[in-house]
Formats: sequence, C-alpha cells, structure tokens
Amino acid sequence: MNAPEPTVNVLLDPDWASGSLVDDVRRGLGSRPLRLPPKWLYDDRGSALFDQITRLPVYYPFRAEHTILERYADDIAAACDATTLVELGSGTSEKTRLLLDALDATGRLRRFVPVDVSEGTLREAAASLTARYPELAVEAVVGDFTLHLRHLPGGDRRLVAFLGGTIGNLYVEERAAFLGALADTLEPGEWVLLGTDLVKSVDRMVAAYDDPDGVTAAFVGNCLTVLNRELDADFDPDCYRYVAFWDPHEERMDLRLRAEVPQRVTVPGADLVVDVAGGEEIQVEISTKFRPGRIAEELAEAGLEVTRTWTDPDGDFALTLARRR
Ligand code: AVJ
Repeated sequence: MNAPEPTVNVLLDPDWASGSLVDDVRRGLGSRPLRLPPKWLYDDRGSALFDQITRLPVYYPFRAEHTILERYADDIAAACDATTLVELGSGTSEKTRLLLDALDATGRLRRFVPVDVSEGTLREAAASLTARYPELAVEAVVGDFTLHLRHLPGGDRRLVAFLGGTIGNLYVEERAAFLGALADTLEPGEWVLLGTDLVKSVDRMVAAYDDPDGVTAAFVGNCLTVLNRELDADFDPDCYRYVAFWDPHEERMDLRLRAEVPQRVTVPGADLVVDVAGGEEIQVEISTKFRPGRIAEELAEAGLEVTRTWTDPDGDFALTLARRR
C-alpha cells in the first residue's frame, strides 16, 4: 500500500525577502550592536551545513541528546499520554524517529506535526516519515516557531518537542516570551519536551562551536550569503572572521562575525546602508547553556510544571518533560 501524502501547510512567505526577514534585518542592522537573528541561517545550504555540524566529533550536544533518546524514549513515551507529536525546529527529524518509534509502540500516536522554516528540508522529512509510518498523519508546517504557535493544529493531546538545545538560541527575554506563548497555546495537561545543553567545561563548549574544519564558521557566515541573495546586499563574506567565545556572565556561547576591514554595505531589499567599522562585530547567534534549576524555573514561570528530566551518562545535555498546569 502506498503511504498517504503528507500535508504541508506553508505559513511562512516562501519569499523570505517579503516577509519578516526585512523587519529583522532593519531592526538588527539598523542599530548597534549589529545583530542578525539566527533563524535566517537555515536556508537549504545552512540546513545542510548544520547537518554537517551534527556529525563533527567536537559537537557533543547532538550525540548527547541522541544517547538520551536512545536510552529513554520509551520512558518518555510512557510518562506522557500524547496522541500528537509536534516538533518545533524539526529539521531532518532524524532524532525524532526514536521518539516516534517509542510513541508509536504505545499505540496512542496518531499524528506528527513537524514545524520548520526550511521548506525543502521539511518536505523531504515529511515524505520519508510517511513512508516509514504509513498509519501516521503527517501534517507539516513551514513556519517560524516564534510567530506561528497559534496556528498549530489542536484537538488532540499534544506533546510539543523542542529539541537540540535550540531554545538556547533565544535571548532570555525572548525565551520567556516564547515559553509563555507556548504554554498559552497548550490545553492544561498537554506536554512539552525540552532539550537543553548544560553548562560544562569551557574548553569543550568552545571547541563545539569552533571546529578545526571551519564548518561552524561557514554555517554562521552563511547569513551574509543569505542577505546577499534575498535582499541584494553586497556583503563581502571574505572580509569577516568568525569569532566564538564563552560569556561566563550570561552562561552562553556567543557567535559573531568580525569585520576585518571597514565596509560600507548596502542592503537594497531592506532599504538600508550600514557602515561597518573595522573590527566591528555582527552578533549572529547565542547558544545558552543551562543549569537544571534554571530550566525548571523558566518553565514554571510560564505555567509549565516539570514532571521528569533525563540526562546522558556524562551529564552533558538534558531532556525535560513538563506539563501545562
Ligand atoms: C540549533 C541550537 C542546535 O546552538 O548548538 C550549532 C546551532 N550553531 N553550531 C546550537 C549551532 C552553531 C545549535 N542548535
């Protein structure tokens, strides 16, 4: 029997340049410090580079989370009563298969809703998932999880998985807003599974974001290529050097592009001219690392109560299951 077609609901304007990219760029490059939100790193090339990052030996978060899911997916499935799995920032949904298998084995799973900004990646993932789980309704959403939570399909007991430590890419006030909005879209009793990278030795954290082959540098630098293509900007990517450092006060990795020489950049698509000074940095991404207490606090603040936490044997990464009060 042929698997049913997955549905793909496109909430994001497929033409990024006419959507929120322009607003983000005006806001981020129109004032100091220069900043670009990391969601625009994930065009098809960026998604492929991120995929490559996950296979780097120094990039421990991916494998640590994978280990947790390998060991405990059955426990996670048993600890909640979900019939729909929603995954925010799903990418290739590679790790999610472990969770889907476990939920599937409970006999309760009906529906999978992967949400991602990268339409190409999402379509491929949706097709391969329907092939693998013919009974599962796959309802993909091309969307931005910071904007489109309200549009998620409801009407079932949902488990919203937000894996990979992606929540760490949000600034603290963005995190609070996001968790609040997430809690607001959930009915009491519905579930959240949150992946967070944990604070560890500075050497390992820095190494994970500054690999010797420069894959991460290419991934972060790709944002300039995206702006050149989408908004007709004239960044010279070769003039920027990738800088990754640990911010001990905020407990986060801070990933930037530093202009080696001064450059006047025009961004016609955003009606913007930016004079980037020599040595000036563009802040592209943060990756916050957590202590377990802080995760529970931030969830509780949003009305989400922690029911269980799982970590890998090295204590590098945590998966936290919380329930809407
Ligand atoms: C998207 C959160 C999984 O912050 O570790 C990896 C993105 N950036 N290397 C992370 C990323 C540079 C990544 N996550």
